[in-house]
Amino acid sequence: MALFSSATQRVPPVAEVPKHVAVIMDGNGRWARKRFLPRIAGHKRGVETVRDIVKQCIELKVEYLTLFAFSSENWRRPPEEVSFLMSLFMEALKREVNKLHQNNIKLIMIGDRSRFDSSLIEKIEASEQLTANNTGLVLTIAANYGGRWDVLQAVNKMQKAQPELSGAYDEAHLTPYLSMNYAPEPDLFIRTGGEKRISNFLLWQLAYTELYFTDTLWPDFNEAAFKAAIQSYQQRERRFGRTSEQLTEPPR
Ligand code: IPE
Ligand code: IPE
Ligand code: MG
Repeated sequence: MALFSSATQRVPPVAEVPKHVAVIMDGNGRWARKRFLPRIAGHKRGVETVRDIVKQCIELKVEYLTLFAFSSENWRRPPEEVSFLMSLFMEALKREVNKLHQNNIKLIMIGDRSRFDSSLIEKIEASEQLTANNTGLVLTIAANYGGRWDVLQAVNKMQKAQPELSGAYDEAHLTPYLSMNYAPEPDLFIRTGGEKRISNFLLWQLAYTELYFTDTLWPDFNEAAFKAAIQSYQQRERRFGRTSEQLTEPPR
């Protein structure tokens, strides 16, 4: 049994503040270029924005924050940039994990970690273990994550677990094996940096998510920018396939 039902199977509860916010943190390179700095300076600055947004989520009582840090396609970048991003990830974990723990934050990493250095894998595991019993904000970092990878690994696990059902699988069979089986589907998706695409992020889980795109570059994405995204969300009418008139009736 999945912990949370899917938006296509059952109309989920809708709250004023989104329960789950998922973010593509884009625009670090352009932020740096505008300042005649190397791209990596933008990534470094981007970590500070992460800290601010985590704080914002706690204040607003967002329960789940999911951040896309490195896509399965980002390996195509110049090797120096990839290795800088890996060491930045390692450093940020080393520096921040105790603070996250003190703030009752539960840290989870989704994505195929097998391609990372063993020292990074160990640090990720230790950070997850340290914060595993925390009951505050659930902070998910998607690293070497791809939405298609996620669906395929889930299909393979489902098939292995229940081969006798082959040909008769439904959503409820699959969703327990998706990487984010511990969280409700995102209510609000934010992409900074101006591009209007999903870039292989949470493909399955975004089925009924409200999408918000902003030109603001990730290092510039401050409290006011985040509040603007939340406000935009609050003006949406989430119908989940129903008519506007039906929204005053109890969900079915
Ligand atoms: C997002 O910023 C961070 C990662 C993908 C790791 P970019 O590095 O994509 O910045 P732009 O899009 O080149 O400005
Ligand atoms: C998406 O950003 C991935 C992350 C933010 C980690 P990209 O900048 O890599 O996306 P594309 O390639 O421009 O779509
Ligand atoms: Mg980009």
